[in-house]
Amino acid sequence: MSRFFEPHAGTPNPSRHPSMAELIANPARRTLMTGATAASLASVLALEGCAALPVSGGPLVGFKGIPTSAEDAVRVPEGYRADVVVAWGDPIGDVRGMPAFQWNAGNSAADQELQSGTHHDGMHFFPLPLGSDNSNHGLLVMNHEYPDNGGLFPDGMANWSLAKVRKAQAALGCSVQEIRLVEGRWQLVRPSRHARRIHANTPMRIGGPAAGHPLMRTAASPDGREALGTLNNCASGFTPWGTYLTCEENFSFHFRPAAEPTRMEERYELSPKVRFSFRWGEADPRFDMVRSRNEPNHFGWVVEFDPFDPDSVPVKRTALGRFSHEGATTVIARDGRVVVYSGDDRGFEYLYKFVSSRPWNPHDRAANRTLLDEGTLQVARCNADGSGEWLDLVHGRNGLTAANGFDSQAAVVMFARAAGDQVGATRMDRPEWIARHPGTGDLYLTLTNNVGRGRQGAEGANPANPRAPNPYGHIMRWAEAGGDHTASRFTWETFVLAGDPQHANPAVRGNLQGDLFASPDGLFIDARGVMWVQTDVSPNVLLKDDHRVYGNNQVLAIDPVTRVARRFLTGPRGCELTGGCMTPDGRTLFVNIQHPGEVGSLGTDPADPRRLSNWPDFRPDGRPRSATVAVRRGDGGVVGT
Ligand code: FEO
Ligand code: CA
Ligand code: CA
Ligand code: CA
Repeated sequence: MSRFFEPHAGTPNPSRHPSMAELIANPARRTLMTGATAASLASVLALEGCAALPVSGGPLVGFKGIPTSAEDAVRVPEGYRADVVVAWGDPIGDVRGMPAFQWNAGNSAADQELQSGTHHDGMHFFPLPLGSDNSNHGLLVMNHEYPDNGGLFPDGMANWSLAKVRKAQAALGCSVQEIRLVEGRWQLVRPSRHARRIHANTPMRIGGPAAGHPLMRTAASPDGREALGTLNNCASGFTPWGTYLTCEENFSFHFRPAAEPTRMEERYELSPKVRFSFRWGEADPRFDMVRSRNEPNHFGWVVEFDPFDPDSVPVKRTALGRFSHEGATTVIARDGRVVVYSGDDRGFEYLYKFVSSRPWNPHDRAANRTLLDEGTLQVARCNADGSGEWLDLVHGRNGLTAANGFDSQAAVVMFARAAGDQVGATRMDRPEWIARHPGTGDLYLTLTNNVGRGRQGAEGANPANPRAPNPYGHIMRWAEAGGDHTASRFTWETFVLAGDPQHANPAVRGNLQGDLFASPDGLFIDARGVMWVQTDVSPNVLLKDDHRVYGNNQVLAIDPVTRVARRFLTGPRGCELTGGCMTPDGRTLFVNIQHPGEVGSLGTDPADPRRLSNWPDFRPDGRPRSATVAVRRGDGGVVGT
């Protein structure tokens, strides 16, 4: 039976069971496991995309941590190497063509559609063939988050045109890239029948409650059941039936807003009060709300596609709600239903959970094709006593009625933020990635920062977001009641407060042990139970003032039991670290270096893209490029041991 199709149950509450880390550190404790627990653990590992890893007998985190860095380089611990696998503009191997990257950024939109996108973000390694646990050959599927016009064009944003917009649109979305390990180095397989670019003009379907709603109807989609493209693809997820979930985050910046926005449009920052714009609406009427009022309703969703079928049509899964989706972390509950956790990454926004109506079918991949279209969307409320509740976002319940602006379940999912307001969800400090510990079943959420909390007129601290302001972020941990991922109650705690514990201002001090970091964003937990944190300190503050102590953005390994952090990788100047995932054997860690050289919050310097960074090529005639690196131990051992 392939690992995609193994039945799987959620594991019990961690308070009564040894953690995965403890099991690996102390194999004798395995005898405590019942047969049922052992079986469920094996299948959890299958879902996590990881085969059981060899037991080293050593500490969970075994490498020697590295210092902070302000260099224009990727640094990893002694005994490791980091090699670039694919960078923005590399032809991905599409059988239709492989246009070479032009160092002066002279490639056309048509070229860009056959090249890796820019701003690499969420990512997953799918072994080939489908259902195997091959760690030497697979599909590296990734998101491309947002455009940098200073990097994309030789003259930046001067002479703005539809051709420029088309190239930017082609640089976002997703890449499906076939890769193979050859003598310890990962290589793109070119040409590849799997290679595929999905971008902001790729035809898609709309599934779930919002499909066909009048507010989903546009000139290009008169029945509101088709959409064009995906954009601002931030973090991601994957399902046990072998599909990829790409998540649409800050879509509003691509639209030219209408002069008089509705209340719901304002709730989604589609308002002239928002100053920043990628200027697509100036050249492409689809992104001008005066001409295409409903087009923004096609974005802010989780999009599912089958990376193994290059002809598959991606589907917007509207049942999961519309907001600035960071990621989509999928867990199979004990009864086989599919649970998807997702954060809305804006200051004071919410944490969501979706529970499918039907269980998944481990024996029939096609039967899972519409699973994410029917289910219950919920939003989290964290109480002061450490308890929490998942509140239903269901039309007709909890005040989600026509009188309050929700005429249907379609309206509830389209305006999930307003629905969360209505039911009294907890306003969080920018919910980013969510990871499930494969042994304990605990869930972890990065809350990257929120400098607006406590500002005049803004909400102050609440129990789950205890610092106002919160410039360095934190990580929350929660356990579903009874270890059941479909439960409507949970218990939560603050796992760590990021930031310097010696900070002069006690109000913003962290409680970190080990190596310092700020602004946790990317997060995953490997099959051995090591938590990998990737940071996203904004280039606006990176290396400045009290952020100097953290250096460039970085990757750290944390033991969830001791909570001690150890610095594993430091990135080049101006970048964020994201996308972390491993091969099933744990011997390759893939990490994305996003936006090296970014000087503000949204791009390189158009006058000189190399001003801050020229990583990874360092060509005098080149420019910095987002890229994936593969990190391996020189002796081929398990990463992190
Ligand atoms: Fe795209 Fe929330 O980071
Ligand atoms: Ca992120
Ligand atoms: Ca971020
Ligand atoms: Ca970023």
